[in-house]
Amino acid sequence: MNGKEIRQTFLDFFKNKSHKIVSSAPIVNKSDPTLMFTNAGMNQFKDYFLGTEVPGHRRVTDTQKCLRVSGKHNDLEEVGLDGYHHTMFEMLGNWSFGDYFKEETIAWAWELLTEKLGVDPDLLYATVFSGDKADDLGPDVEAEEIWKKYLPGDRILRCDKRDNFWEMGEHGPCGPCSEIHIDLRSPEDKKSKPGAHLINADHPEVIEIWNLVFIQYNRSFSGELSLLPEKHVDTGMGFERLCMVLQNKRSSYDTDLFSPYIGKIESITGVKYTGSYNTEDRSDIAFRVVSDHLRAVVFAIADGQLPSNTGAGYVIRRILRRAVRYYYSFLDTDRPLLVKLVPVMIDEMGHVFPEIKKQKDLLMKVIEEEESSFLKTLENGLKRLEQVLSESKEIDGETAFEMYDTYGFPIDLTELIAQERNASVDIEGFRQALSRQKERSRADAKKEVHDWVIINEGSGKFVGYDQLEVTDAHILRYRRFSQKDKSKYQIILDKNPFYAEGGGQVGDTGWLIQDDEKIRVIDTQRENELFLLITEDIFTTPASKVQAKVDTQRRRLIENNHSATHLLHAALREILGDHVQQKGSLVKDDYLRFDFSHFSKLTDEEILSIERLVNSKIRDNIKREEAREIPLEEAKEAGAIMLFGEKYGDEVRMITFDDAYSRELCGGCHVDRTGDIGLFKITNETSVAAGVRRIEAVTAIAAERHVEEEENTLRSLQELFKSGGDLELQVRDVIEVNRQLQDKIRQLQSEKSSNVKSQLENRFESIDGLDILAEQVDIADAKVVKDLIYQLEKSRDGAAILFGFVSKGKPQLMLRISEEITERSALDAGKIVRDLGKRIKGGGGGQPFFATAGGSDASGISEALEEGKKIIIETYKKMAD
Ligand code: SER
Repeated sequence: MNGKEIRQTFLDFFKNKSHKIVSSAPIVNKSDPTLMFTNAGMNQFKDYFLGTEVPGHRRVTDTQKCLRVSGKHNDLEEVGLDGYHHTMFEMLGNWSFGDYFKEETIAWAWELLTEKLGVDPDLLYATVFSGDKADDLGPDVEAEEIWKKYLPGDRILRCDKRDNFWEMGEHGPCGPCSEIHIDLRSPEDKKSKPGAHLINADHPEVIEIWNLVFIQYNRSFSGELSLLPEKHVDTGMGFERLCMVLQNKRSSYDTDLFSPYIGKIESITGVKYTGSYNTEDRSDIAFRVVSDHLRAVVFAIADGQLPSNTGAGYVIRRILRRAVRYYYSFLDTDRPLLVKLVPVMIDEMGHVFPEIKKQKDLLMKVIEEEESSFLKTLENGLKRLEQVLSESKEIDGETAFEMYDTYGFPIDLTELIAQERNASVDIEGFRQALSRQKERSRADAKKEVHDWVIINEGSGKFVGYDQLEVTDAHILRYRRFSQKDKSKYQIILDKNPFYAEGGGQVGDTGWLIQDDEKIRVIDTQRENELFLLITEDIFTTPASKVQAKVDTQRRRLIENNHSATHLLHAALREILGDHVQQKGSLVKDDYLRFDFSHFSKLTDEEILSIERLVNSKIRDNIKREEAREIPLEEAKEAGAIMLFGEKYGDEVRMITFDDAYSRELCGGCHVDRTGDIGLFKITNETSVAAGVRRIEAVTAIAAERHVEEEENTLRSLQELFKSGGDLELQVRDVIEVNRQLQDKIRQLQSEKSSNVKSQLENRFESIDGLDILAEQVDIADAKVVKDLIYQLEKSRDGAAILFGFVSKGKPQLMLRISEEITERSALDAGKIVRDLGKRIKGGGGGQPFFATAGGSDASGISEALEEGKKIIIETYKKMAD
């Protein structure tokens, strides 16, 4: 069976057992602050397990794009070294939300593997949880007994918490698990050592393929386990590993999932893949790393995470750079390679994950740009690191930081290279250097969260689409947290009018009121589907009735900007084309920001047309149509715009402003009629990344103020010119006159310079065939000084000329050394000028034959000249000796 058939067999099997096939959630996790990337199939169902949301179906199956590169589950370092670790992988899973439990889970896993997929039952082992004292849990005898129906006792093993108690992160839903392992060794190997001894021992041929988790508990922030309201099942099978087993390969990289990349890399680089796992065979490791990292980077970008310098974006940049380093060092390739593999990946996976097919241009553009920019500094960085490693076995924190800051080497890349050379890196020193740069200590960012204080059961309902004030709300639960030494609270209300930050729209602010106590809500955030009101205080009697009031004025401004964002999005697609995809959005009370894929800067005409179209839609005063809970399929058919990388439920909310103009799936807050927006003005258009543009705009009062300010500026200019008349003509005149004056000055300076030149000709000192001159010159135009220095040098056999001068009020140094001299001596103008720059409180540099420095203290010029002359003579003499 090829990969495609295997995936389908899995899904169909569970479909036949009454499971609903759902789509993969995005690989980038935007709604759960405890998790950057989806690291398991169950992430998107977390709220069902916790009981804070009700599932639409009790049995579900899917293939989930996962990324394990940070936090509790991180396989980055492992990738490439063996044949079965991946950062990005597909996890095939089936779920029961309070429906079937251990009996069916195990029976179906067995049936699928041994009957439908034809795995030899004699190769299989099962593990069950052995219990844990600290958590006060006994062994999972129930699962063990069930397994006995399928496997002999000696192939059922009890394993401890490390392997057989599954947790998504430090806290959250969890439970004991039962894993299915397979022993793929040769009969001889099996004779020499029983498979049971190799389970969970990192043996490449005795590996786990399926994890059946029986979710029953929630681990709280304090580490305690509490029983969940219902029992659930979460299973996860690594698709790549399954293909390896069924295709009878020793590595997932040898299956049809990866061989197209390996083949393409071979044909581009001319290097052959030999499939070796020897750590010395670095090119083979590179093949695996590149093909693995490609998939991670492509999926993350397709789901909206562009590489950047912070957070999840930096994780993606790190992975990409790691791949670049591998092909650069071990596949002898100094040209972008990942970008050439993107089309191969689209051919392989585009049918299951259309988001990569539809965004091909953007993916290629972003990846190529990232690769090219890192390749520019990589070579010098590697040289610098070589130099350090040849002198020491430890890379200190400052150097690691220099590698990061100057050469763009993520710390784990520096570490990796050090490891290859048996050296170490002072990570703590690096962190300190980094936080010194960021001027904030790490402790500041740490958030300490306490456990919930439960007042009433339930998960709360958002009523803020219709109501901005609720008079009879109750607090369901609250918890204290502290950040930067400040204590705050998160509060969940039963009836909540406050919109939580999400979908680009900022969270609401406002007040909670009880008789004589009034608490300010400073923000509203979400954790998955939970809306958390952030306050700095809590009521003395939290259980009493609460009045909840959103800051209406602020919310209205936010609504203006959100609806304007929809009108803008539609206008962009109409004017620029359908390739425009939303790549980011921020909707605040004072402005909006919209990032979208488009490959060139917008022209003035385009910006004008967009503004005009949006404003005409505002004047049309279109009524908002809102379909609050319609099936996703219906919305799709109605042509609603959906975003890549967004998680949609079965029921969605659809916002329409004129069904022929703007229709989007959106959870945000909007105006009743577009006329409420008043006016729309674009204030800025820039680039955020390769292929991604950004528009900033204002509406309503802010737009009015913007126009007023522009008019004020014009009026002040008009007044400056006093005479009235055509302002543009007048400004053009001034620019022209200024240019003529500049030319005149330059001409005068040149005349002066030829006088100066003849005077200077006589002031050279000659030492062992080198003509030296170090003078302060009274010329203010750097270009004229440069001409002078080149002319003076040209007429001599070998010269070093150093000038100090003041231009635009700033001291400058300029040094020219004849090439013949730099070629046969240690004289280097760049180096000398860099040092001398300090004398004039500045810096500079350049090439060995010409360099300049600029500073802020003109009183240092004469000292710099004197010292420069001394250095030149000494260095030159050393060579003569
Ligand atoms: N959550 C479990 C895992 O990731 C099973 O899906 O292994």
